[in-house]
Amino acid sequence: MTRFNAIKGFRDIQPDEVFLWRHLEEVAREIARRYDFKELRPPIAEKTEIFARGLGQSTDIVEKEMYTFVDKGEERITLRPEATAGMLRAVLEHNLAEGGRATRLFCLGPMFRYERPQKGRLRQFNQLDVEIYGEKGPGVDAELIFWLVDFLQALELGDLTVSLNSLGCSECRPIFRAELLAFLRGREDKLCLDCRRRLILNPLRIIDCKNEDCHAMVAEAPRTLDYLCSACAEHFETLKQLLTANGLDFKINSFLVRGLDYYIRTAFEVLTGKLGAQSAVAGGGRYDGLAQELGGGDLPAVGFAAGLERLAMLLKDRPLVLEPGPDYYLAVLCVEATVPAFRLAAYLRGQGRCVAADWEPGSLKSRLKRADRAGAARLIMLGADEIATRRATVRDLVTHEQRALDLAPYLT
Ligand code: HAM
Repeated sequence: MTRFNAIKGFRDIQPDEVFLWRHLEEVAREIARRYDFKELRPPIAEKTEIFARGLGQSTDIVEKEMYTFVDKGEERITLRPEATAGMLRAVLEHNLAEGGRATRLFCLGPMFRYERPQKGRLRQFNQLDVEIYGEKGPGVDAELIFWLVDFLQALELGDLTVSLNSLGCSECRPIFRAELLAFLRGREDKLCLDCRRRLILNPLRIIDCKNEDCHAMVAEAPRTLDYLCSACAEHFETLKQLLTANGLDFKINSFLVRGLDYYIRTAFEVLTGKLGAQSAVAGGGRYDGLAQELGGGDLPAVGFAAGLERLAMLLKDRPLVLEPGPDYYLAVLCVEATVPAFRLAAYLRGQGRCVAADWEPGSLKSRLKRADRAGAARLIMLGADEIATRRATVRDLVTHEQRALDLAPYLT
């Protein structure tokens, strides 16, 4: 018979990893609380059109990475490749951004992209996605970057770089785009095949192509920051001031363009040197035009998403994220001890204690081994002697201290 494995690029988060995942999620929720963000739980699938329009037809995600299918009602459905477009759809649908103050929301959950799996890159992966709707000024851009940095610091992750750029807006980006095209034309033969296509469809993406030849050429190309209109330049300056004044160390990277078309002005990423090619642990930016693209009104917005698998890889083997073992292991050594052991377990669990036991009676040696493997803090042995004398011993497996336990309440 065939034994099945998980789908390529999809992975099980195994029991011994779950504690770390819960830790990641709890820290995210705690930072959300400190920043007064509320949780939104959108569905994991949306109408395909939302991503096709929202993310940009010529992006890698829309062109080749979406999990799309036609459902039985002939509707084209896509498993979300990212959360931003679906979150905004929900915000618009339920009027969540109406009212005075900017709306602050986050979501946690799985995303799906048909990419080539490798270390730190999966086809189903999880993101923490954090968004602010309804404010144009750079104050919220700064708030989000601090949110992200606080989150990473609370996880005690070091060696991270915050990379920042401005991509301009619908006023100044076309001018930059024209300059970039003028520079690249005549040098087409030095571009990789993908970039030759991008030249027509999406020349900005050439800027962050990983191909060495493209990369070398782009080093000489015009830079977005030199073409910002005065409003974009002022936005960027104020953002930098806010970050600097609050002690944040960041690097300006004019090659940072991001892989989604909805960004305008601010773009940022947090990078690590520890995960090889998949160095981005989080990325985001401003996307003031997306609401209109999705049929809504003028709703400025800014957000980021962090990749939880990448963070989990960075956190692995940290003692702080090891799950504690059970408070008690009950070593049942004879059949007569089973009923009292069940009663004792029920009592302890009722007191909120974690109790592990094996119900098939076994030798003391084998039970000690299991207690040790379970990482139990204390051992209670229940054999013929204990039943006869109505007394058991609670042994602390760390300090080796012992105390007597009256078994009378658990015997018939
Ligand atoms: P993104 O840069 O595509 O942005 O993804 C954000 C993060 O998700 C990445 O930095 C990375 O850590 C993680 N990630 C992306 N793809 C994979 C993958 N295949 N396997 C594992 N991890 C991955 C967005 O998704 C935007 N929606 C962010 C945003 C929110 N912009 C505004 N608001």
